[in-house]
Amino acid sequence: MRVPQGAGVLSRRPGPAARPPAGPAPTERALALRRPAAQAGRRPYFTAQLTRAAALAGADLTWHSRGWVAELRRGGRHTHVVGYEFPLNDAAAAAVAADKVATCAVLAAAGVPAVGHRLLRQADGEDPAALVADLALPLVVKPLDGRGGRDVARAGTLPELTALLERLFAVHPALALSPWVPIRHEYRVVVLADRDRIVFDKARPPDGSGEWRHNLAYGAVPRLEVPAAVRARLAALAAAAARATGLTFAAVDIVDTADAGDGRDPDSTGGALAVLEVNSSVCLERFSGHGAEHARLAGQVYEDAVAAALRTPPRAGGAPPR
Ligand SMILES: Nc1ncnc2c1ncn2[C@@H]1O[C@H](COP(=O)(O)OP(=O)(O)O)[C@@H](O)[C@H]1O
Ligand SMILES: [Mg+2]
Repeated sequence: MRVPQGAGVLSRRPGPAARPPAGPAPTERALALRRPAAQAGRRPYFTAQLTRAAALAGADLTWHSRGWVAELRRGGRHTHVVGYEFPLNDAAAAAVAADKVATCAVLAAAGVPAVGHRLLRQADGEDPAALVADLALPLVVKPLDGRGGRDVARAGTLPELTALLERLFAVHPALALSPWVPIRHEYRVVVLADRDRIVFDKARPPDGSGEWRHNLAYGAVPRLEVPAAVRARLAALAAAAARATGLTFAAVDIVDTADAGDGRDPDSTGGALAVLEVNSSVCLERFSGHGAEHARLAGQVYEDAVAAALRTPPRAGGAPPR
């Protein structure tokens, strides 16, 4: 079977959720502070949601680096939100989530069903033919630490895989190789302190574009209508994934797969749910743009995340909480 390549291989980082170019200059702060509208330009929802969350928490908020870094102060507590990364997760847990193979290994060890990801390092020079003999085609290749669906591509044949590895290794020293699983639904669950706060179905674009990735950046639509029984299963699985990776605040992507039925796919789950990836950064910018209810849910979860971040006591060595 010939598998069409998704658009966006080696594509540029997509739209509003993208990191602005690193801000230079000592004048940056003064400029940014003088131009709040410019700060909000790239991620208007998040800027407004965090501003409101800080105000409700009684915290002072200062934006830095073109609105990418939010500095929060309240009483003796001083912390930052960087991008969509809140000071609620420890660095090791965030590093596990950032690495698709580490995530898969940690989840499997904890007995949490996860889509398989195998490490491919350029330095190891593995033979694509041996990979294909080992794992059934089609295969999905992606940057080990990617996000937003960028450079996630499918290979349906050995020549496609060979070409793909060459192209991706030119820009990423390490990749993850995953057996392609037929996804019936892909969900995202936002978990805060073990509780599912937002659950949505990332429905593939209805425009017939042929896009197979379920990223909102590539046209998937976030649907809030998820049957209660499904939501309960998703919530339990997402909480288990967050616990296993050690994350307090996380966005967990879960796939509902149909059984490939050929017995060769080690990740075939026979229609069961499996975790595809776990994100320590909780970006809801595109999600918020899909409707008032979406924006309200995102705003609420950020309010609670800011409140929790300000409650968290300073690290050992810092001033004790009063
Ligand atoms: N093994 C796979 N089988 C089928 N589809 C996949 C597989 N891996 C990724 N995808 C699709 O590609 C999208 C992007 O892949 P993902 O692993 O989430 O990378 P990113 O972190 O860049 O979003 C997923 O949302 C999913 O729809
Ligand atoms: Mg993803």
